[in-house]
Amino acid sequence: MLLQSVSLVSNMINLEDSIKSIINAGLLAPSFYNTQPWQFKVSNNKIELFLAESELSIYDWHKIQSLLSVGAVIENIVNEAKKWNLTCDYQVNDQFSITEPVVIIKFLENLTEDSRLNIKLEAIKNRHANYYMFENESLEQVQLSYFNKLNKPPGIQLKIISDEQSKKIIFNVASIIDQIRFMRKDLHFAFYNKLHFSEKKHRKIRTGFNLENLGICGFASYFFRITKYWYVTKFLRNFGLAKKFGENANLGFLNCSALGLISVENLDTLTLIRAGQFMQQLWLETTILNYGLQPHTTLCVFDYLERLGNGSELSDSELKLINENINNYRELFNLNSKNIGVFLFRLGKITTPIISKTLRKELKQVILS
Ligand SMILES: Cc1cc2nc3c(=O)[nH]c(=O)nc-3n(C[C@H](O)[C@H](O)[C@H](O)COP(=O)(O)O)c2cc1C
Repeated sequence: MLLQSVSLVSNMINLEDSIKSIINAGLLAPSFYNTQPWQFKVSNNKIELFLAESELSIYDWHKIQSLLSVGAVIENIVNEAKKWNLTCDYQVNDQFSITEPVVIIKFLENLTEDSRLNIKLEAIKNRHANYYMFENESLEQVQLSYFNKLNKPPGIQLKIISDEQSKKIIFNVASIIDQIRFMRKDLHFAFYNKLHFSEKKHRKIRTGFNLENLGICGFASYFFRITKYWYVTKFLRNFGLAKKFGENANLGFLNCSALGLISVENLDTLTLIRAGQFMQQLWLETTILNYGLQPHTTLCVFDYLERLGNGSELSDSELKLINENINNYRELFNLNSKNIGVFLFRLGKITTPIISKTLRKELKQVILS
């Protein structure tokens, strides 16, 4: 979808190599359902980043998921710019819209060295979301301090927990609440619109994922094909399918070294972008340590939809399910109106390396003239 009524740059030769490589690094950022909801406009020494209308239904309430991803794009851009002896100065526009950029990034000359730059640039390329089960081996003190010493921007908090009892608590809460995903038609379609069964379509669209990307194979792949039809899913729900799906989707919480939550003081655009930048720093450090990370943000979404969105997007039965079960999650992470969980994840040693990585849009699809 075009963000503006301007045409895409057809001739990439006009773009300097530095800008091409900086935007290409930005494109490797993770995004919810691999939606890649951004486009870039380049002029002189600046890049403007525009956000598309959300394809994610209530998942992207208050643009939280999109803005976290924008933060990840910025983190990649900041690092890649250093390779070209450039530093970034970025301004956030709270009044952003489809035609008004959310961020304007300016580049200035910079000659200071970053001794870890090369390993971070490698990590940008190698990072991925890992859906397989991890080893339960606990994190060593040195690894924990590695994460904890990351510079948290103002208004951002990180809490990592690794005891078995807490993992079980989160598994239980998340499994129950995740049922909502399989009971709502809008969320059903938000997922299946991004899961491509045709490889040709997948390669053309380049957002979303295929079954391999999600580590789905064998019998499970047939199951996913059948449940794509809403009436099938709706019918199977009568046999407890939603509960079973909820459990399966969250098994990873029982198979990991630790769980973590990034939380924010408020939901303004700058804070969410900073949280996303921090999320990406953490993800890159995890990659450097040779650990796997999988985000599990559904629980966060239903938590803030109920508390901050006053439940207006949720039905009475969904609210009941949430209210009866979510307290353990809120207590474990001390969540309140000044501490809002936005990025829940698990991490651990990888036992099975991923077979295929998600695709990214090509430069010509995301640059506006
Ligand atoms: C803000 C955010 C939220 C995400 N939430 C989830 C999630 O709830 N469950 C999940 O399995 N993956 C989640 N992901 C992972 C994305 O699906 C993944 O990053 C995307 O498909 C791109 O793939 P890659 O990370 O392997 O490059 C999330 C990613 C981001 C940036």
